[in-house]
Amino acid sequence: MKKSDVVKMIFDHDLNKERRREKGSAFAPTNIALCKYWGKRNVELNLPVTSSLSIALPDKGALTTVSVCNDVSDNIVLNGNKLNQDTPFVIRTCQFLDLFRANTKWFLDIDIKMNIPVAAGLASSACGFASLILALNDLFNWNLSKRELSILSRLGSGSASRSLWMGFVEWHAGVQADGMDCYAEPLRWEWPGLNVGILAVSHQAKSVSSREAMQRTIDTSALYGSWSKKVAHDMPLLKQALQNKNFSLLGGTSESNALTMHAAMLSSWPPVCYFLPETLAFMQKIWKLRQEGLDIYFTQDAGPNLKLLFLEKNAGDVKEQFHDIEIIRVFP
Ligand code: PMV
Repeated sequence: MKKSDVVKMIFDHDLNKERRREKGSAFAPTNIALCKYWGKRNVELNLPVTSSLSIALPDKGALTTVSVCNDVSDNIVLNGNKLNQDTPFVIRTCQFLDLFRANTKWFLDIDIKMNIPVAAGLASSACGFASLILALNDLFNWNLSKRELSILSRLGSGSASRSLWMGFVEWHAGVQADGMDCYAEPLRWEWPGLNVGILAVSHQAKSVSSREAMQRTIDTSALYGSWSKKVAHDMPLLKQALQNKNFSLLGGTSESNALTMHAAMLSSWPPVCYFLPETLAFMQKIWKLRQEGLDIYFTQDAGPNLKLLFLEKNAGDVKEQFHDIEIIRVFP
């Protein structure tokens, strides 16, 4: 099954007929996984091996505006700079758009304002694809449900399926070959007082894409077999932590989940290592601070930056320890 078959299943009519507005626009927040998505059961459709659970960062993400242009290709402006047609970002975005212009050829002016660095492990592709699909839904008046939009976002980037909501979100792995049961949904719990801190180590784009790193882990890591077990263990614990507002359970489970994912990557061949010396130095500092009584945990994605988890009451202490940290209140 191809991505275009999924698009056909969702749209049973000509996608872009009539009803078009002049502009479509939408914001999507970036999301940080507390239980990670690592590995695909279907590479073409971005169907994951396991379910995952994330938290949205309300202030961080992508605002995308689209309008139909008279050109013969899409024009993409990212944070005020027009991108060359041969950049990976443009190629990937245009290929995604191709899915939606089956019968009718249209090209778009796309303006993206993103307040996180691109491809540095801060989920830029998640908020990028989610905001693009929401903006298309707005432009073409598709009136799709959030579930359908989550499925379509997933075709751009797996973690984008989770970027359509604020707060905690679960992405169901599903079992169907067509992935129609593989979408994200918001979880009912809120946690005012929960903070995420971004500890930026490097804003450089990563050298190995998460797509490639995932595949290499599946193909070569002897540890990958334990990943599903780890997720099956962590998911209920995270939900229990959310339900009971048990912060050390939330933080400890998230940190351990991220480290297990990185352990599997490190044991791939050739090894995939997203740690820089500064990443490790920060981890060691966090472990030491925790021993000294500061309730603080981290998670890390496919890049060297860390995201810290802590409660509002400790924000002052955290700021004192990490001067350059950017603190985000996840339920403002
Ligand atoms: O959606 P992708 O292909 O960018 O992969 C995301 C992978 C991680 O960020 C490491 C984990 C996750 O669940 O977001």
